[in-house]
Amino acid sequence: MARAGEPYHYDRTQRGFHWLMAALILVALGIGIYAAWQVPGTSPRRELLDLHKSIGLTVLLLLPLRLVYRLIAGEPAYRAPPSRSAHLAAKAAHASLYALMLLLPVSGYVYSAAGGYGLPWFGVLSFPRLVPVDKALSLAGYAAHYWIAWGVGIVLGIHVLAVAWHAWIRRDEVMGRMWPRRAARG
Ligand code: HEM
Ligand code: HEM
Repeated sequence: MARAGEPYHYDRTQRGFHWLMAALILVALGIGIYAAWQVPGTSPRRELLDLHKSIGLTVLLLLPLRLVYRLIAGEPAYRAPPSRSAHLAAKAAHASLYALMLLLPVSGYVYSAAGGYGLPWFGVLSFPRLVPVDKALSLAGYAAHYWIAWGVGIVLGIHVLAVAWHAWIRRDEVMGRMWPRRAARG
């Protein structure tokens, strides 16, 4: 419920987390798909996967900070509150995106760590191997990573289409909540 003087958009920190992590995830998705087509052990697959892992592990490090901040700051009020069902649908989509943002890098980590592969972070440091080297575990991690990536693709597609519908068809305030300069008309 809106209170007097309350801003109708996510604060600077939440917007920073959203757009930075969105960019990282979209780049990681692109690199992951491209690298998966390359022959294992060849260049540039190896270098691309090092970059892919570094970006993915960055997402994993940022996520808890974002979640703690989200729990403290909450979500902004709506000028014109949506119907209960629309709000519930948005909440469900956002909760799934948060869950997928955790499960995708964790499954990638298990795949690589249990496979005995490297866990580099931009050539600066190497992540610790917290699981045993185990072929079956690594294969399970790969299968999970593959299907969770599909899940991200689908939920993200719905997320972006929903935002586009709000921005261009309904022309309401939703895009302005995450991008305030694109303020709602009315
Ligand atoms: C690139 C295109 C994207 C656009 C245009 C976009 C736009 C938006 C907008 C307008 C909101 C606010 C919705 C509302 O208040 O009801 C939002 C929220 C959200 N978006 Fe995106 N987004 C994009 C990409 C992503 C990506 C790649 C992810 C992560 C996988 C993501 C995850 C989220 C989450 C979790 C929220 C809920 C924020 C919260 O309540 O804490 N978005 N997005
Ligand atoms: C935001 C995080 C991440 C996203 C969006 C993402 C997405 C993807 C996608 C779409 C693929 C292609 C899947 C296929 O077609 O086989 C892939 C492959 C891969 N990912 Fe990730 N990933 C992320 C994080 C990670 C992390 C943290 C690691 C390991 C530390 C990792 C390791 C790998 C590896 C090794 C492959 C190559 C699979 C193969 O062809 O053998 N990923 N990733």
